[in-house]
Amino acid sequence: MKVLIATDKPFAKVAVEGIKKEVTEAGFECVLLEKYGEKKNLLDAVAGVNAIIIRSDVIDAEILDAAKVLKIVVRAGAGFDNVDLDTATAKGVCVMNTPGQNSNAVAELALGLMVYGVRNLYNGTSGTELKGKKLGIHAYGNVGRNVARIAKGFGMEIFAFDAYCPSEVIEKDGVKALSSVEELYSTCDVISLHIPATPETKNSINAALVGKMPKGAVLVNTARKEVIDEVSLISLMEERSDLRYMTDIMPAAHATFAAKFPERYFSTPKKMGAQTAEANINAGIAAAEQIVDFLVNGNQRFRVNK
Ligand code: 3PG
Repeated sequence: MKVLIATDKPFAKVAVEGIKKEVTEAGFECVLLEKYGEKKNLLDAVAGVNAIIIRSDVIDAEILDAAKVLKIVVRAGAGFDNVDLDTATAKGVCVMNTPGQNSNAVAELALGLMVYGVRNLYNGTSGTELKGKKLGIHAYGNVGRNVARIAKGFGMEIFAFDAYCPSEVIEKDGVKALSSVEELYSTCDVISLHIPATPETKNSINAALVGKMPKGAVLVNTARKEVIDEVSLISLMEERSDLRYMTDIMPAAHATFAAKFPERYFSTPKKMGAQTAEANINAGIAAAEQIVDFLVNGNQRFRVNK
């Protein structure tokens, strides 16, 4: 059996070593493809492999067609919007993620973006503090919970809205569960996005919603760029000079945001949320373990396609 690690944005070296150890100790071969750039390189690499570990790497129908003996794809991370699940299912390929394994890293970065935002991008001027501010966590999954835990240390008042998570679960963490997304945005000084990119959430964060936020608001995105209606957010930021947007996922309209709002907008050059040695080790080794357990024992616990 051959396991391919296909990561255009590579894991930390120590994580790659851990994955290789896990795979080879199970008696399988491990192949590494990093920073492959062109899709053609990925297409060539998938022929003849039985399992693939990916990050945000796109596994579409063309890749799945080229991977004739593929049995499983594991997205080492949370979001699996980069994998064509229907085609995988049609071809009998199991798709999994590794939920929770990189969530602390993403949450720490979200808090970092909040501080950077309220301190005016460290430009030397007087900013504000997070202490006493109202934080709205939009979707209370693994990352959202970690954001709540860390934000408590900053002395923030914490609110959350999650259409699928029962309010008792949220309130057990000392977080106030709100019953609508509109209420979350109209209540909170800082919103941290943790929704996945789905047909329902795409372009859902728009001027009508963000416009409800109070004066001096900060919107922080460590989720996905697709959830933002960029055109509408740009118009709102033109109207409201108090509003800041801090993102870990460079918008399609990055050049426009950067030119129009140099002091109120920041984007990392590449998604950095999960880019820590710890997150890479946790997610990478979990992916390797899940592959071995699937190939040896048929365990499908973290399967995300039907
Ligand atoms: C995830 O969905 O796990 C995060 O967005 C991290 O993605 P990455 O592995 O591409 O950095």
